[in-house]
Amino acid sequence: MRVFLDSGDLDEIREAVSWGIVDGVTTNPTLMREAVSRRNGVDLVGYVEEVLRAAGPGRPVSLEVMGTRAEDMVREGRILYERFNPVAGNVVIKVPVNTRGMEEGDAEGIRAIRELSSSGIPVNATLIMIPAQAALTAAAGARYVSPFLGRVDDYVRTALGMKFSKGDYLNVASLRTWLEGRVREGDRAAMDVNSGILGGIEVVRAARRIFDVQGLRSEIIAASIRNPRQAEEALEAGAHVITVPMEVLRGMLRHPKTEEGVRIFSEDARRANYGEIFGR
Ligand code: E4P
Repeated sequence: MRVFLDSGDLDEIREAVSWGIVDGVTTNPTLMREAVSRRNGVDLVGYVEEVLRAAGPGRPVSLEVMGTRAEDMVREGRILYERFNPVAGNVVIKVPVNTRGMEEGDAEGIRAIRELSSSGIPVNATLIMIPAQAALTAAAGARYVSPFLGRVDDYVRTALGMKFSKGDYLNVASLRTWLEGRVREGDRAAMDVNSGILGGIEVVRAARRIFDVQGLRSEIIAASIRNPRQAEEALEAGAHVITVPMEVLRGMLRHPKTEEGVRIFSEDARRANYGEIFGR
């Protein structure tokens, strides 16, 4: 099991790495835009170098391409790798499994993933929403494959017109219960929904099973994680890595009864004169 921080914020990266349990970092253009906008006028190239140094050697940092055509993504992936990998030897190129030009039979993302991977550049195949995308990007040689759990759930909810509150997430049981209710009410769309529809966690579970059965060596990074319970389920479902925002990482350590217990034990230690043992 490994934990990555999903952030482009230098302070967060330094803080999380100092905890000793963060094994890598994932960024994306949105996270970088947010991080850079908090540091007025910062030079992006220098900032990326600082991020790579803050993560440090041995902790992969995913940097994403910006193009949507295979040739652009390959060119940008090479530029990113050649420019930044010498800094700390930890660059991974994030390539979306996009299908621009699919109607002409193209599949831009998969072609770029294959080409970059074949030339020895480690790729994180991103924006994975279904197990089939995970399987194909793994077969194309991606080092990492990132199912976006939160966004898969967003998609399923929207497709089904489901209303959930922020922080909720889907699993097969909750989806079935909801669907059964709608079917009982005579909802035609619900009746038509394919029973094979998957929530984010199930995408991870299915992808892991495919990788194991087929002997695919890529590692699954469960991404787009919105709360600690989702992180737990992703690990249980077989994600090799979870990538979590700082807020979720902090949440994974917290429980009110833990905090209460610490308060009580500290007080009782004081009353029992533990100070004599520790010289205070
Ligand atoms: C992972 O690699 C992505 O950067 C990230 O998890 C996306 O999360 P979001 O769907 O919450 O934006």
